[in-house]
Amino acid sequence: MSSCPIDTSVIRPIRFVAGQCQMLDQRLLPAEEIWHNYKTAEEVAEAIRTMVVRGAPAIGVAAAIGAWFGARDIEAATADAFYAEFEAICAMLAATRPTAVNLTWALERMKRFAHANLDRSVLELKIGLEYEALAITQEDEAINRKMGQHGQPLLSDGMRVLTHCNAGALATAGYGTALGVIRAAVEAGKKISVLADETRPFVQGARLTAWELKKDNIPVTLICDNMAGYLMSKGEIDAVIVGADRIAANGDVANKIGTYTVAILAREHGIPFYVAAPVSTIDLSLSDGSQIPIEERDSREITHVRDIQLAPEGIAVKNPAFDVTPNRLVTAIITENGVAEGNYQERLYTLVTMR
Ligand code: MRU
Repeated sequence: MSSCPIDTSVIRPIRFVAGQCQMLDQRLLPAEEIWHNYKTAEEVAEAIRTMVVRGAPAIGVAAAIGAWFGARDIEAATADAFYAEFEAICAMLAATRPTAVNLTWALERMKRFAHANLDRSVLELKIGLEYEALAITQEDEAINRKMGQHGQPLLSDGMRVLTHCNAGALATAGYGTALGVIRAAVEAGKKISVLADETRPFVQGARLTAWELKKDNIPVTLICDNMAGYLMSKGEIDAVIVGADRIAANGDVANKIGTYTVAILAREHGIPFYVAAPVSTIDLSLSDGSQIPIEERDSREITHVRDIQLAPEGIAVKNPAFDVTPNRLVTAIITENGVAEGNYQERLYTLVTMR
């Protein structure tokens, strides 16, 4: 096996230019690569709400940056008064999207930092929160690379791997979770080819996964969501790997709508179904997946493609953005601290509490 020359350093959805934060508008990819500038917490919240930035770890990182920007703008005389305003800013950012727990995880970390340093001056708190937000950003890519190392042995040379949605560099600070494992396998010299579900209705697979894998020269074939079963029955898929937005303590996995269907198909065809996610995606406070809040999005995502109307005016629509895959359908959960298989309850607890 020879090493494949790929440059995985280039795709990052959030960057800092001349002290300003910029985000790649993921709604416009792949047709246009447009970067927007962000200076305030409200602007960042709007970017998360409207999916300029999306993907569980990426919205966690964005929220931390939004909290830093919010902190920067607070005019308070005492640390306690500062903290009260900071909590309100974090609550505003947390309300942008409900399912991915990475968002609240990052904001809780920012709040914990501020709360633990209330004996400092307001200026010191602001500087400290800037460092904390930058640390969350940098750590995310390093975590994904570790996850890749833990997960890549599960993918053998020559495997054809199906993925759903986009759990790549674009969904994180860089490198990706599910696509990070694929990148690590390719970097280890294995020939991996990817089948990307288009992922209706927001089409993250066709627009984003296909775009970033093509950019990295990793062979990728796009399919419609309803083709996975047929291809599995023909023996054309060897493994499935997806990311996650929230994993309950028992290993039930919330991820992009359609993931559950793919997991059932994988089980029917005896194909391993892997989930790659950082421990910040694991929510030990929820005993099972039925407690995970599922975001319901605008019906227009289904009735229209951009400005083209596909469905009759006024048609009733359901648009849940995520579903929950029960733990029994999950072959393994790959994290930066190791891989969980079998008894998820115990193993996830160990991985989350590991230092
Ligand atoms: O609605 P999105 O695009 O934010 O949903 C993203 C997903 O469901 C991803 O699969 C998940 O966040 C994992 S990203 C590493």
